[in-house]
Amino acid sequence: MTKQKISTRISESKKEKPASEQLEFGRVFTDHMFVMDYKESKGWHDPRIVPYQPITLDPASIVFHYGQTVFEGLKAYETKQGEVQLFRPEKNMQRLNRSNDRMCIPRIDEAFALEAINQLVHLDREWVPNAPGTSLYIRPFIISTEPYLGVAPSKQYQFIVILSPVGAYYKEGINPIRIAVENEFVRAVKGGTGEAKTAGNYASSLKAQEIVSEQGFAQVLWLDGLEKKYIEEVGSMNVFFKISGEVVTPALNGSILEGVTRNSVIQLLNHWDVPVTERKISMDEVYQAYKDGLLEEAFGAGTAAVISPIGELSWNGESLVINESQTGDISKKLYDTLTGIQYGSVSDPFGWTVKV
Ligand code: COI
Repeated sequence: MTKQKISTRISESKKEKPASEQLEFGRVFTDHMFVMDYKESKGWHDPRIVPYQPITLDPASIVFHYGQTVFEGLKAYETKQGEVQLFRPEKNMQRLNRSNDRMCIPRIDEAFALEAINQLVHLDREWVPNAPGTSLYIRPFIISTEPYLGVAPSKQYQFIVILSPVGAYYKEGINPIRIAVENEFVRAVKGGTGEAKTAGNYASSLKAQEIVSEQGFAQVLWLDGLEKKYIEEVGSMNVFFKISGEVVTPALNGSILEGVTRNSVIQLLNHWDVPVTERKISMDEVYQAYKDGLLEEAFGAGTAAVISPIGELSWNGESLVINESQTGDISKKLYDTLTGIQYGSVSDPFGWTVKV
């Protein structure tokens, strides 16, 4: 794609900003958004930053009927010096294109999309919150907008980026959460869309989520879709277990989302010479390790969730209380280091941060 100029229309009114300390996840949006259209004859065109506003779509738009859509999630952080920085944003753009490929959506120019995000965050930089643990969540997404009821890839799309100042994803904040292992429903199967960041994966997770949240669990842990034996992911984060000093995470198998935080955790553990393995891991193995007193820690890792210690796993009517429901040493060190790099208070040996 040839580089196009991004036009900007500044909002005439400014919304009131909530106090940083009171932010929840994803309920408040900033003053502007980025929009770009796609048509077969023109490719991606008309990139523009406009005041945040509702979008008007034909009710027959493919996205409403068949869910041909993808999204991403990344964050902008304010450093102590008042600078704003992104964390590995190129990884999100690469994954967006992998999701696009899976969902038959035309690829975007990654460098151009990063430039658009940069300009948008820069314009709305006053919205980057500064209370501990808060950040500006960036949600790029693509929707299929062709009005057509046949099941076929759309010939028209919109790429939109919205921004939301956020606090912790879980109401527990950084305290350990309770997770229920899901035995009835499945999230994804090999050959399905589990690896893509597409709406259907999240819509299909709601039923299980609804059932367990009535029992006080924060999320479900998904098992593989064939045997319901091997651990996959939580849906809003990837999972890690520390068993006898070794950190284990499910290997990417086509139905697990390839998390940017997951990748960063693996790199940090390697850097610290903590043994870390990506492999198949069954719930039976985790249970046995628990029974043998070898399950030292469990935690989730994701952009929204950061590092979330898992204090309890409920499985087959049994409750596995992990590390006395306390945050473990590795979870804490990972949380402190990752957030330290993201907020610029810890040196960034990998060059992961990018200034806006
Ligand atoms: C993220 O961590 O950014 C995610 O996409 C999880 C989400 C569905 C809230």
